[in-house]
Parts: sequence; structure tokens; C-alpha cells
Amino acid sequence: MRHSSSVSFFGELYLRSTRPFLSPEITLREVAYLKRCFAGLALPGPVVDLGCGHGRHAAPLNTSGPLAGRVVGLELDAYSLSQRAPGFPAIRGDLRALPFQTGSLGGAYAWYSTLFAFSEAEHRVILQEVARCLRPGALLVFQTVPYERLRESPGAAFQHTLPDGSVLEEESRFNPETGMDHGRRRLTLPEGRVLSGVYTIRYYPLAELTQLLESTGLATRWVHGSLEGEPPTSASTDLIVGAELRHG
Ligand SMILES: C[S@@+](CC[C@H](N)C(=O)[O-])C[C@H]1O[C@@H](n2cnc3c(N)ncnc32)[C@H](O)[C@@H]1O
Repeated sequence: MRHSSSVSFFGELYLRSTRPFLSPEITLREVAYLKRCFAGLALPGPVVDLGCGHGRHAAPLNTSGPLAGRVVGLELDAYSLSQRAPGFPAIRGDLRALPFQTGSLGGAYAWYSTLFAFSEAEHRVILQEVARCLRPGALLVFQTVPYERLRESPGAAFQHTLPDGSVLEEESRFNPETGMDHGRRRLTLPEGRVLSGVYTIRYYPLAELTQLLESTGLATRWVHGSLEGEPPTSASTDLIVGAELRHG
């Protein structure tokens, strides 16, 4: 008999279905990019991995390089925290009400559209929370996917057998009017257990994103279209923004 359960998207469903696609090489390149961003960081205070998941960035960043000994993971999901790599401290908490004192953080970063998997109003709250917790002049670096990529290919559907024999099925639809991508994912584990969940991710045109950041006191310092630090083009697969909390 098959047990089917509708679960929250993040947690076991997300980790079991996403980890097989996150090669160590990709993570290494992302970690190298973040090390370049935070090289020469002069401000004191922890640097928070916002929605650190199983810590694929936080663990290596806290171990060597400019952020060694300074990274703290922030994650709401207990299962992800239980699966995390050793080598960095983590706090269970919510991006929408950050458990940090005002002006206490030396920096923050968020990978994989983590800041934009909520409602429109919550995205503003999250950025306001990040701005509240950063020291003036501190950096926020985040990665997402360009709005234009989704607009070009608004629908996706696939089925894939993962290395452990699980079957992953996913379908998603992007609405260019709202910038919302609505997806449904279903994972059938080898023993027959089925995990399924839905997600929504907002993809912002760059001008809109810049305005949103500005309205929370964050000034855009750079925009990259790839981990190589190139400017965004119509062919870019990444949208990576470095923003600084304005003084005063
Ligand atoms: C897209 S995943 C990215 C995970 C990790 N940064 C990475 O790149 O592998 C988003 C992460 O944010 C976490 N998350 C979702 N909602 C959250 C919330 N309200 N507060 C804190 N973390 C949250 C999820 O559990 C998940 O681990």
C-alpha cells in the first residue's frame, strides 16, 4: 500500500529531490563566488546564511577563507538542520522575524531564490528584517533567476528517476503578469512512500527588485549574471545581487 502525504515543500521533500542535482562542483563554485564577495570584510559581527538548508555553503565558508569562524546558519526547517554538514553553528528561526539584534550582523547571503518563496508582502518584510539586522555598510548577497528566463519558458514538466530509485515528478507554470511561478512536486520513494508539495517563487524584473531593495534601505552595489561576475545579459541563467545597507 502506498502512503501519500502532502507535506510542506521545504524539508524532506525538497532535500531528497534537490540534493541529487546539487553537485559538489556547483557548490564549490558558489562558495568561491561568496568568498570573493566577502573578501576584505572589515565589519565585525556574524555573517548569516539566510535559509542555510543543509549547510552546503555555510559549512565550507565557516571552515576557511574570509568568513572562517564567522558564519551562522539560519533555518526554519528542523529536518534540514538535522541533515546539515558539520562545521558551522545554526539557529532555528524564521526569515520573517530574524532572531538577531538590530545592527548586529557583519553581512548576510541567501542562495537559490530563498528570499522570494513567500508572498509579496512577506518579501518586503524579509528584506526589512535583513536591513534591520545588518550593520550600516554591511553586505547582503543573494542569488535568484532572471525574470526573463521564466518569461521565455513559462511552463515546465518533467519526470526523473533519482540515483536512489525515487521517482521525481514536477510541473510548474510561470505567470508573467504576477511574476509568480507556481509549482507542484511529487516524490515517490523506493519503498513506495509518496511526498508531495507545492511551491511559489516570485521572480522580479531587475528594476522592480532594485526598487524593493531601495525601499528597505539597501543600495544595490552590483548585479551579476553568473558566478564569473559578468554583467547580466539576455542569456544569463543567474541573477546575483550585492546590496549594502545605507548609512543613516
Ligand atoms: C531554496 S532552499 C535553499 C537552501 C540553501 N540555501 C541552498 O542553497 O542549498 C530554501 C531554504 O530556506 C528554508 N526556509 C523556508 N522558509 C523559511 C523561513 N520562513 N525561515 C527560514 N528558513 C526558511 C527552507 O527550509 C530551505 O532550506
